[in-house]
Amino acid sequence: MMTMKLSGSVLVMLVLVMLQHALGAVDATSHQAQRRAVAELLVVSALDAIEADGLDKVLGEINNVNSTQFRTEDVNGYVFVFANNGTNLAHGQRPDDYVGRTTDELIASSIPELVGKLDGDKLNAMFVEKAQAGGGWVNYTWIKPATGLVHEKSSYIKQPSGYDDIYVGSGYDVMTDDVVPAPAPTEE
Ligand SMILES: *[C@@H]1O[C@H](CO)[C@@H](O)[C@H](O)[C@H]1NC(C)=O
Ligand SMILES: *[C@@H]1O[C@H](CO)[C@@H](O)[C@H](O)[C@H]1NC(C)=O
Ligand SMILES: *[C@@H]1O[C@H](CO)[C@@H](O)[C@H](O)[C@H]1NC(C)=O
Repeated sequence: MMTMKLSGSVLVMLVLVMLQHALGAVDATSHQAQRRAVAELLVVSALDAIEADGLDKVLGEINNVNSTQFRTEDVNGYVFVFANNGTNLAHGQRPDDYVGRTTDELIASSIPELVGKLDGDKLNAMFVEKAQAGGGWVNYTWIKPATGLVHEKSSYIKQPSGYDDIYVGSGYDVMTDDVVPAPAPTEE
C-alpha cells in the first residue's frame, strides 16, 4: 500500500517534470519562431521601401536612430545594410560607429570583445553567399552591447531586387543558458 502510494507520487512527479520540460521547450520554440518572423518582416519592409522610395531614403531612415521605421519598439529589432565588399552602408543601432567601415574594421574599432574571435571578412562572405542564393539565415557569434555578452546571433539576409552588390539583414540574439561573458580586456 505504502509502496504503491510512493511509486504513484513519484510517477506523478515524473510526469509533472516531463510536462514542464515539454511546455518550456514549446515556449522557447515559439518565442524563437516569433523573433525569426520579426527579423524577416523588418528585412522585407526595408526591401519593399527600397523598391518604392529608393535606396538613399531607406539608408537615411535606417541610420536615423530617432526614426521608428525599420525598427521594433524595443531597441533589439533593427536593420543593417552592407555592400558586398563588406562596407557598412546603414545600421539601425550604431550608425556612427559602423557606417563606412567594413565588418572587419568595425569589429576592430568598436567591438574589442570580438577581435580574434570573429573574422569579419568571413562573416561578410557568408552573408553575401546567402544573399546571392536568394536570401536566408546565417548564424554567427556577436555581442550584446548592453551586457558585453558574447553569444550566438541569427540573422536573416536578403538582396533588394535590382541590387546585386548590397544586402539587407536583421537578426536576433539567441540567448541560451550557455552564454559566456566576454573576457575582460587585458591591460598592458
Ligand atoms: C535624435 O534625438 C536626440 C534627442 O532629441 C537628438 O539629440 C539627436 O540629435 C537626434 N539624432 C538625429 C540623428 O536626428
Ligand atoms: C564598396 O562598395 C560600396 C558600394 O558599392 C562603394 O561605395 C565603396 O566605395 C566600395 N568600397 C571599396 C573599398 O571598394
Ligand atoms: C541557427 O540558429 C537557430 C537558433 O538557435 C537554429 O534554430 C538553427 O537551426 C541554426 N541554423 C543552423 C544552420 O545552424
